[in-house]
Amino acid sequence: MLKSPLLDAAGLVGSLAARQAAPDQDAVMLLVHELATSLGKAIDAKDPHTLAHSEEVAEVSRVLAVGMGLGDKLAQAVHVAGHLHDIGKIGVPDAVLGKPGRLAPDEWERMKTHPAIGAEILAPLSCLAEIGVVGMVGAHHERFDGQGYPHGLRGQSIPLGARVIAVADSLSAMLQARPYRPAMTFEDADREIRRCAGTQFDPAVVEAFVAVREGLARLTRAFRRADDAA
Ligand SMILES: [Fe+2]
Ligand SMILES: [Fe+2]
Repeated sequence: MLKSPLLDAAGLVGSLAARQAAPDQDAVMLLVHELATSLGKAIDAKDPHTLAHSEEVAEVSRVLAVGMGLGDKLAQAVHVAGHLHDIGKIGVPDAVLGKPGRLAPDEWERMKTHPAIGAEILAPLSCLAEIGVVGMVGAHHERFDGQGYPHGLRGQSIPLGARVIAVADSLSAMLQARPYRPAMTFEDADREIRRCAGTQFDPAVVEAFVAVREGLARLTRAFRRADDAA
């Protein structure tokens, strides 16, 4: 069949358009990760007591996800959600966020809104919703025994990524000093995480934590050295 140059040109335009319509997924994930890292730093900058907390949660979450054999895509999504997990604290008043010591009941209620606010902030980014990040952020304070917030979800009904982030978040928080308590040692934090398997945490995530804890001890030590240098 004779090919017209016009048809050839139309074909070329069509294939270029198709390529533009389907951007390279790796490039998209790279950009999503950079954006998540930046937003995580923004939220950490609000609180002088949580230096690099979001990044530490992201790194620990990735190690746990890989340790559980979750596969590349899900491990990447969990990592990105780790960076973003506390983004909803932007909607919590500074007086509550920065208060040294215990929160009054009404302040605690405000604090507990941050997972839902975070999910709401991220919801317009459809690429994050599609890979489950929005759901993970919204559920990162749910507990395996159903005693968490905001919905009291229980067990497998909590997104798996959120169950991973819950362990990473607690580890990072315990290893950082707070105005009202000193930093815990890795050994004490390790004991506390194992103690809470099946209540606060998914036992499968705790099992992965125990399997990779030497690597996590090294990783989190590097974060403490960066804290000390800051
Ligand atoms: Fe990262
Ligand atoms: Fe949180």
